[in-house]
Amino acid sequence: MSLIGACDRTGPPTVAGGDAAQGKTLLTQYQCGACHRIGGLPGARGNTGPSLESLGRSSYLAGRIPNDPEALVRWIMDPPAMKPGTLMPAMGVSAGEARHMAAYLYTRQ
Ligand code: HEC
Repeated sequence: MSLIGACDRTGPPTVAGGDAAQGKTLLTQYQCGACHRIGGLPGARGNTGPSLESLGRSSYLAGRIPNDPEALVRWIMDPPAMKPGTLMPAMGVSAGEARHMAAYLYTRQ
């Protein structure tokens, strides 16, 4: 926890209630890497979706949704609700799980 907290000071968004270590495990369990490259996850090499290697630096999600913690959590839970017709499916991720995943993704600068 203290290591993650130390990163928060440098400016990347922080996710209330999010734990990056748990998020890393969840990203693997939900197989997000089948469609995305995700830094730090060796098996995550998919290219159906955009690379999430530097999501912490991206200004927008899905090309048009301002990238902030609440939007990212909502996106992970239910992408079509935010962008009808998107090719990323809702995968049944709970709010708590999405917070952990968002915390991990924001460690990727
Ligand atoms: C079936 C393939 C698929 C799976 C599985 C998938 N995604 Fe996606 N994802 C996409 C596609 C396609 C987009 C681009 C959506 C768009 O622009 O409309 C996307 C977009 C995103 C974005 C926005 C990235 C950006 O730079 O715009 C994030 C964040 C994201 N996905 C996270 C996840 C997470 C976390 C999981 C696992 C819970 C996941 N995705 C699982 C296909 C997938």
